[in-house]
Amino acid sequence: MNKWQRSRFQPNLPLGENGERVTASKAHRELSKNAAKEGMVLLKNKQNVLPLKKGTKVALFGKGSIDYVKGGGGSGDVTVEYIINLYEGMKALKGHVNVFEELSDFYLENVKSQYEQGAIPGMTVEPVVPEDLLKKASAFTDTAIITICRFSGEGWDRKSSLDTKDKIVLPYEDPLIKRSEEIFERGDFYLTKTETAMVNTVKEHFSKVIVVMNVGGMVDTSWFVDDDSIQSVLMAWQGGMEGGLAAAELLCGMGNPSGKLSDTFAKRLEDYPSTYNFHDSVDYVEYTDDIYVGYRYFETIPGAAEKVNYPFGFGLSYSSFQWNVVSAEEQNGVIQVKVSVTNTGSLEGKEVIQIYVGAPQGLLGKPAKSLVAFQKTRQLKAGETQMLSLEFTVDSMASYDDLGKIQKSAYVLEAGDYLIYVGTSVRNVEKLSFVYNVPQNIVVKQLSEKLVPTSLKERMLADGSFEPLPQREAHNPNECAFEKITDWQAEGYTPEGRIRKSYQLWREPFKKGCHTFYEVAEGKVTVEEFLAQMTDEEVAHLLGGQPNTGVANTFGLGNMPEYGVPNIMTADGPAGLRIAPECGVKTTAWPCATLLACTWNRDIVYAVGEAGAKEVKENNIAIWLTPAVNIHRSPLCGRNFEYYSEDPFLTGKLAAAMVEGIQSQHIGATVKHFALNNKETNRKNSDSRVSERAAREIYLKGFEIIVKEANPWCIMSSYNIINGHRASENRELLEDILRGEWGWNGMVTTDWWTYAEHYKEVKAGNDLKMGRGYPERLLEAKALGLITREDMDVCAKRILELILKVD
Ligand code: BGC
Repeated sequence: MNKWQRSRFQPNLPLGENGERVTASKAHRELSKNAAKEGMVLLKNKQNVLPLKKGTKVALFGKGSIDYVKGGGGSGDVTVEYIINLYEGMKALKGHVNVFEELSDFYLENVKSQYEQGAIPGMTVEPVVPEDLLKKASAFTDTAIITICRFSGEGWDRKSSLDTKDKIVLPYEDPLIKRSEEIFERGDFYLTKTETAMVNTVKEHFSKVIVVMNVGGMVDTSWFVDDDSIQSVLMAWQGGMEGGLAAAELLCGMGNPSGKLSDTFAKRLEDYPSTYNFHDSVDYVEYTDDIYVGYRYFETIPGAAEKVNYPFGFGLSYSSFQWNVVSAEEQNGVIQVKVSVTNTGSLEGKEVIQIYVGAPQGLLGKPAKSLVAFQKTRQLKAGETQMLSLEFTVDSMASYDDLGKIQKSAYVLEAGDYLIYVGTSVRNVEKLSFVYNVPQNIVVKQLSEKLVPTSLKERMLADGSFEPLPQREAHNPNECAFEKITDWQAEGYTPEGRIRKSYQLWREPFKKGCHTFYEVAEGKVTVEEFLAQMTDEEVAHLLGGQPNTGVANTFGLGNMPEYGVPNIMTADGPAGLRIAPECGVKTTAWPCATLLACTWNRDIVYAVGEAGAKEVKENNIAIWLTPAVNIHRSPLCGRNFEYYSEDPFLTGKLAAAMVEGIQSQHIGATVKHFALNNKETNRKNSDSRVSERAAREIYLKGFEIIVKEANPWCIMSSYNIINGHRASENRELLEDILRGEWGWNGMVTTDWWTYAEHYKEVKAGNDLKMGRGYPERLLEAKALGLITREDMDVCAKRILELILKVD
């Protein structure tokens, strides 16, 4: 294929064998199902109620058995041909299980009518099952499966049970927030009253009760954790278009659960340290929990351990495994641990070995445990053993000293013993006799002060107390040298088309006498030479989004046909290639990112990335706006389903595999949202107030791992403000850390329609402004001496270099 042929002509050229389309192909849907099965987590299985034996009769309770939530809302949504709910999944396995149809018919009718009245999946009300139906169901079988589902989405957060009505002051009315408040009396973390009543009724009438959780993030598990009348629970997540079938197959033993939690499931929402002030203000979030996020909090802070129902890394199997540490040693700054894992059960399955480090408390204070390595076994037959070799560097155990307790602005290894834990969850571990001792403090990397908090007053320490933080002069994020564009002037506008002068068809379509971009692609002209021939207007034009072509709906970049620069299209992620319904193209909906994280399996995440990218390419799009890797700081963040984990290491390693899979197809991955976009409410104007240490060790770390391991073509800066500076206007973030410290040389795009000023974004090294740029405002800024042509060229060059990478 010729260079940029797909971008220029949008040809209908399938990528599959025999001219078949790969988009939503059987193979991709099968992969989606298998990925879903790999990340579902078996939380409970008393009396081996699961897997269901052949011939089992089941009654499916809960409208969630019909009302399947394949993923969350917003850019993480996907237009699909069909969605398989649990009922349909079970039906597909007829012969193995028999479903009590009359009950399912009741739910089917009910959900259908709720949809007809405008409800969307997951935002429906639990109906009360008529008494006679209940009796019939319990006469049919002793086995009930309850499905609970939840939906959340972009642009809004989950309500906290702690918040009084007047506490959440929203700058706008989102009907979904209102609806959510109506349905979920205590916030959707908890069961509603009608759900609780349904669960209680089922428990009274059935001796075997199985629960399937079709959710996108952390929810209440206290209602089943110690309840003997609920024997089994499958955390099935939002599993994509095949999710109901994936869950059904696992319940029936067609496959063995091997997912492990990528988040801690606490007893109550109130037990997460981020909950109490999450909705304090629409204007800011104070990250007072500092580095004690997720299990780093629950495993470290005195008294927090007992607040956990299911720890990070936890997940059962239908089989059992034994692991033995064979050796542990350090050589040349790398610690290697060899572990043999044996399947001691009777079914084939997989186990995940996890290594955590406990650093000495020293002066800085440390989490009791931090994940530093993990590996999943292959599918082990009963009795089979696999030897795993896990490695991590000594340097990766270092902590960032932002206040200069040891050495200011440096990663340091404080003197003392570094304990190493090996096991199958953060709790189920064995402390190795091998200890890594650091005789005296070592500065691993000297950096410099960045992203310093100005108005975060205190932060949590390892003993649960708080230390005051020095206060700096606050920065006004709306500062602008001329009249700042208003939020609503920025919101939602499409790019403008540029006028192309008429030219004679049989002449060269390029500007007379210019060097074309093809010459750059052929290596005859440098990007610098190419840019030098352009006017300021033309360069300013290059720095913004371009009109859609083909089936794209998130716009393009480039688009200067008179120079031979193609218009390269972007599309969302992360749950699949998102094409607007009106285009008539259906794509594969993959499991949500949280589920993918729970696979702890880089190979399957790579495979999803590779397959997803093929769909992107087949539809003539070149840049995929995925993966999204913000940290699950609070269960309340409405977009958690799109993100991987509370842990930056797991996030970084798995999302790096995703990027590698995507880019193996020469499709650009876009890692988003950089950074600290951990709340959706007022996301374009909310200040994430965070310490430099927490920023670096928790919130930037995943990005750092991905950048260093997988070299993504593109990073998307986030909407929010970080310590008073908008992320997209933040030169310390985008130039000093991302490019300077991490050595990355790709292109940064804004998120779509930021409330930032374009010239300040250019100054900060944010190369591209999406959905549209503001060339006229850039030129005004240049005329006022606020930016230079060189500043614009730096960004333009990186945009052009990205386009050069496209096939
Ligand atoms: C989201 C991004 C998305 C973009 C384009 C924004 O609202 O935050 O994740 O890629 O829209 O759809």
